[in-house]
Amino acid sequence: MLVSAKEMLNKAREGKYAVGQFNINNLEWTKSILLTSQELQSPVILGVSEGAGKYMTGFKTVAAMVKAMMEELNITVPVALHLDHGTYEGCYKCIKAGFSSIMFDGSHYPIEENIEKTKELVKIAHAMGLSLEAEVGSIGGEEDGVVGMGECADPAECKAIADLGVDFLAAGIGNIHGKYPANWPGLRFDVLEAVKAQVGDMPLVLHGGTGIPEDMIKKAISLGVAKINVNTECQLTFAEATRKYIEAGKDQQGKGYDPRKLLAPGAEAIKGTVKEKMELFGSVGKA
Ligand code: 13P
Repeated sequence: MLVSAKEMLNKAREGKYAVGQFNINNLEWTKSILLTSQELQSPVILGVSEGAGKYMTGFKTVAAMVKAMMEELNITVPVALHLDHGTYEGCYKCIKAGFSSIMFDGSHYPIEENIEKTKELVKIAHAMGLSLEAEVGSIGGEEDGVVGMGECADPAECKAIADLGVDFLAAGIGNIHGKYPANWPGLRFDVLEAVKAQVGDMPLVLHGGTGIPEDMIKKAISLGVAKINVNTECQLTFAEATRKYIEAGKDQQGKGYDPRKLLAPGAEAIKGTVKEKMELFGSVGKA
């Protein structure tokens, strides 16, 4: 059964570890992440961007697939199905489709409008038993068409949004979606500390988990980050394993062109990346 992400993230914050949000793109991604979570007895959040939702033919398909897969695979660890960087309309669609958690990304609106829309969605999400993530200060780079300039969050604005009763908060601290440029100056821990001082015990979310050095991840967790989003890294490992398979000519040996064989190395590679992240985030055995 899908669960809201509230309880698992409050537990993570108290226990000083983070739960990974791994974005899903198709059946293989979903299966690899669910099986790894079960094997490692780790709670997990499956992230679905609006673009990925559309690709999978809609949020209803995604929710039905995830729920059925959990049943067929006997997944018993806590799993939240979460809309990633949702629009106002997308949030309503996911609530209707049976998601257990939503992110409303109102960071591109003026703060008053972000507050107004977040407030409305918190009320509805909570009435329906879903958790809600809000965002202040946009994350840099591009996530499936959502482009952010990477500005750091204003701690006072974070407090205003946190006070609306959101369950966890994404605050920009210099993090970027996708690969980090060589001249990236690193996470702004001073901003993270200032945000934490304003929002208290609210679990904080670190987007752009791909390529952040291990010591920065650990420091961020020690300063209140309880959810870390990873997407690009699974895409890179999937692509690399698939490329190797094809370059070795394996798709042309026997029935190596069978999609179940062709996609198997990539699916296995994702399991490795997810395992690595769960170990680093400290969520192994916390189900
Ligand atoms: P990366 O693609 O950089 O891992 O970021 C994922 C993310 O933050 C999804 O919201």
